[in-house]
Amino acid sequence: MWRQTEPVSRRLAERLAAQPGDVVLDLACGMGDTGFLVARSIAPDGRVLATDFSPEMLDRARRNAAEQGAENVEFRLLDAEDMDLPDDSVDGVVCRFGYMLMGDPVRALRETRRVLCDGGRVAFAVWAAPQENLWAALPALELITRGHVPPPEPGDPGIFAMADPARIADAPERAGFADHSVEQVAFDWRYEGPDEHWELTLKLAGPLADALGELPEEERAQIRQSVSERIGAILAGRGSVPALVHVVTAS
Ligand SMILES: C[S@@+](CC[C@H](N)C(=O)[O-])C[C@H]1O[C@@H](n2cnc3c(N)ncnc32)[C@H](O)[C@@H]1O
Repeated sequence: MWRQTEPVSRRLAERLAAQPGDVVLDLACGMGDTGFLVARSIAPDGRVLATDFSPEMLDRARRNAAEQGAENVEFRLLDAEDMDLPDDSVDGVVCRFGYMLMGDPVRALRETRRVLCDGGRVAFAVWAAPQENLWAALPALELITRGHVPPPEPGDPGIFAMADPARIADAPERAGFADHSVEQVAFDWRYEGPDEHWELTLKLAGPLADALGELPEEERAQIRQSVSERIGAILAGRGSVPALVHVVTAS
């Protein structure tokens, strides 16, 4: 996953433009790789505080850091919507694929602004529209059209919750950021075939995997077949499945 999504993290690091000696907060860090990328660019004096509210994720990130020899990274259990950090305590914040999953992204962005020092910057990535991300949209749509999960209500947290450019523009403004910019970063999922797509997507999208896990075997198999046919056709046509991400910078 890291190999294929790395272009998004590289752009985030470019936009953040952290300087040697800075303290950078990685919010909702998951496996931690985006923070490690930033950490390398500000070593040895700068440091990254890698945070997530899931202890299991943070443990995995810690092991990942040890494997990669990332030394200037510290880890802390932290809820992005209610940060146990002082005001004005970090120079930059990076968050890849996090805010759209939070109950109240504006609250999390307000917290982000509070902990940023004056002139500090946040760079974050959220998924663009479902039609630009069929790798995730096709399984979700299949579950919705078959009546297994309700369509998401506007404002519900989820993978596409901040896909609408209007919502993106609105969130940093309501959180009190002085200015922001949005750009798109495209990359390709290079699956070996529909089976790899299915397995990787289910690992990435927990709620999808949970919903499928509750269905009878036969129904699950039908959904997998239908999705795999469409993914297979895209792979046959272009050799990869496209993905699109909004990268937002606010200061
Ligand atoms: C899709 S993963 C992204 C992980 C990583 N940033 C990446 O790009 O690979 C989302 C992460 O957000 C974390 N998360 C969701 N809501 C959070 C919150 N309110 N505070 C902290 N972490 C949160 C989850 O535990 C999960 O690790």
